Amino acid sequence: MISNKIDQGLKGSPKIPGDKSISHRSVIIPSIANGKTEVKNILKSEDVVHTINAFKNMGVEIIENNENMIINGKGLNSLKEPKSEIYLGNSGTSARLLTGLLSTQKFNSSITGDKSLSSRPMMRIVKPLSAMDAKIQTTNGSLPIKINGQNLKSKDIEIKIPSAQIKSGIILAALNTDGKTRIIENSVTRDHTEIMLESFGADINTYLENSKKIIEINGKKEFNSNKIDVPNDLSSSAFFIIAALINENSKLKLNDININPTRNGILIALEKMNANISYSNKRKINNEEVCDIEVETSNLNGCELDSSIAKLMIDEYPILSIAATFASSPSVFRGLNELRVKESDRLELIKINLLKCGVKCEVKDDNLFIYPSNKYRINDKNITTNYDHRIAMAFAVLGTRIGPLKICDSESIRTSFPTFVSEFNSIGGKVFWREIY
Ligand code: S3P
Repeated sequence: MISNKIDQGLKGSPKIPGDKSISHRSVIIPSIANGKTEVKNILKSEDVVHTINAFKNMGVEIIENNENMIINGKGLNSLKEPKSEIYLGNSGTSARLLTGLLSTQKFNSSITGDKSLSSRPMMRIVKPLSAMDAKIQTTNGSLPIKINGQNLKSKDIEIKIPSAQIKSGIILAALNTDGKTRIIENSVTRDHTEIMLESFGADINTYLENSKKIIEINGKKEFNSNKIDVPNDLSSSAFFIIAALINENSKLKLNDININPTRNGILIALEKMNANISYSNKRKINNEEVCDIEVETSNLNGCELDSSIAKLMIDEYPILSIAATFASSPSVFRGLNELRVKESDRLELIKINLLKCGVKCEVKDDNLFIYPSNKYRINDKNITTNYDHRIAMAFAVLGTRIGPLKICDSESIRTSFPTFVSEFNSIGGKVFWREIY
């Protein structure tokens, strides 16, 4: 993909797709509920399609009609042994959540993924599940894994790594485990699983105890289907929000965006940077907070973010780094160790690619420092993404100011935002799949 410099501001109201995290859960939870769930506005990206296919392979009736779906769930133990291994492509969320769910089924299964997913850590979910007696064999701590499904033992499980994927995998295992499982979360992470299960009437209870979040699940209790309307994805919106902030004469309106407070760190960070963003039509859909967002060109200042906000915006550091590149003062983002185990080593790729674009920056002890300047001299216009969708889209946004940039291996954007190029061009972007300089 080539991202060229734009000559006029970005204007309009692009269609942001459905939230990726909620879309995965909108397949998984209805598949083990009882009855028909109608899901509207689901994200049909490669990652979510892998989750859909996994459940079809386990015998769940899923009727698809573009962004709408009907899922006919038949209860906690209704899944059938898949005929072949479950291939999940690039999707870490599918891998961690399905590992939890499958560890309690009556059959054996195996999970595989692409090169990137096969290098990502699985012990973080396998260890707590093993404490509940799960039988899972990994390949040197990663995929492929083999799961011997069986009854697990309910326990108190403390989660040390801040990760909604780990938490959700354990919740899904606990739903089908006799007795009460207590999950102790040391720091808050996105809570879409808890919210959706509560709205489906599952026996799940959450509360705070000594500033830790406790999630209690009484297992083996069936729950019924519900309707789901998936709100639009804040993480995907962030590319458009920051593109508008850093380009002259820009003004965008983004509708129906999920602003769940366990996910909204990017908005807090941008407020600190003096971004001109306004919110209207705040409401709740299926207990998820949603609103419309208006954003205009802004004179950004740099900011210092400590590690406590990292959990609330873990996916947004690549694009936030682009905002920091055009601020009037330096920025430092601390505590980014989890960025190293995403679809790529994002911390390293942010640094390498900013340096290629002539932006002074450094990484010290998992902290990222960015020193903006008035003018950038590109050293190498070939952006390395290692097939990471968020690195690709973040540097496409940088291209609007200093392009042309050649974003290598950018097909990865299909994992989360298949319509990115057409939506970006509809507001005045100049992004092309072909190489036109
Ligand atoms: C996700 C959780 C986060 C996030 C990922 C989606 C989820 O991962 O980075 O894109 O849907 O639960 P971690 O749980 O590894 O932090």
